[in-house]
Amino acid sequence: MGALLHPFARPAATDFVRMVRGSGAVVWDDQGKRYVDGLASLWYCNVGHARAEIAEAVAQQMQVLETYHCFERFSNAPAEELAERLAALAPVPGSRVFLTSGGSEAVDTALKLSRSAHAQAGQPERTLVVSRTPSYHGVTYGAMTLTGLPLNRKDFGPGIGDVVQVDKDDLDAVRQVFETNPGRVAAVFAEPVVGAGGVWPPAPGYLQGLRELCDVHGAHLVLDEVICGFGRLGTLFAGTHFGVAADITTFAKGVTSGYVPLGGALVAPSVHAPLSADPGFVLRHGYTYSGHGAAAVAALACLDITEREGLVDRATAIGRRLEPQLRALLDDGLVTDVRGVGALWAVSVPDPVAVRDRMLDDGVILRPIAPATLAICPPLVIGDDDLDAIAAALRRAL
Ligand SMILES: Cc1ncc(COP(=O)(O)O)c(C=O)c1O
Repeated sequence: MGALLHPFARPAATDFVRMVRGSGAVVWDDQGKRYVDGLASLWYCNVGHARAEIAEAVAQQMQVLETYHCFERFSNAPAEELAERLAALAPVPGSRVFLTSGGSEAVDTALKLSRSAHAQAGQPERTLVVSRTPSYHGVTYGAMTLTGLPLNRKDFGPGIGDVVQVDKDDLDAVRQVFETNPGRVAAVFAEPVVGAGGVWPPAPGYLQGLRELCDVHGAHLVLDEVICGFGRLGTLFAGTHFGVAADITTFAKGVTSGYVPLGGALVAPSVHAPLSADPGFVLRHGYTYSGHGAAAVAALACLDITEREGLVDRATAIGRRLEPQLRALLDDGLVTDVRGVGALWAVSVPDPVAVRDRMLDDGVILRPIAPATLAICPPLVIGDDDLDAIAAALRRAL
């Protein structure tokens, strides 16, 4: 066994596919085998692999100043430039930006900012948080507790307190939490399209319903866009796709396409205004790498590419190309369900690991996710020929 303990893997495992090289939507392993990357690595590589432009921008920054922390009175220029750019793109005008190293930290940040903003606004008793099943929000104790996948909590002991879970499309259940806990709910967390929990688009009107309930009962709506953000659904942010404005939007993955780890939260005035109302208040939250300069430069380069190459619109075109080919599998009885939005899709099959393994042999990577689901989430730079290759390999494997 090697020294590397792999995440979400059997610690006893010894057989790994070792990637050594990439280009666009394609990667190669250490045996020289070529794969179409149908999951953008782990749902993140929107701009495609091994782009010199990003590497050069990051290298240039590192040769001047790799980063400098942003705690207390300190700051660095790339972090500020990225925050300004993201704030200008944010769905809610006047938003500010908190930066982290990844998605779980972004979710914990949203949880803490929400509770803290309520406390600063004179409602410290608002600590209850509502999340959904199934859902995936990450693995820190906060994000793990919010996650609606029971297996992910097994053997890890108690999670954080004051979290209530409801079924993903059940608005009445959320209403009931509000009504039985008046003045106690801080926030409702939802992925616009559930990602790792099964790729479930919301029921029509569901997210608008959540927004209305949060407005009526004085709670924050947090949209976890760690997968959906940065163009995946055909709009830069998924809230825009569904016509819903969040108080906090978490992001990671596509913001840097994974070139350097980065995540964060877009924080609307409803949350950041109470935090700055008392000029003496100190927000005692932050990670050493909150506002990492080289990561911010990578994000700026990814945004440049996303805009220049029209990748947000490309997500819609990917869906248009892929959906009929997936629906044909359904018509032919090879899969039992097809669902998705933009460039985020899934099919239901009885044994997704076996299908994945056959496709891997065939040079296409998809991801089996619970239960009985294969997820498709290609880089947004993927060409039509490689999209067709994914669909054809899936058909062969089935
Ligand atoms: C919606 C969502 N939130 C949070 C996370 C956690 O992000 P990370 O793995 O970067 O901590 C993920 C990861 O897949 C995710 O899909």
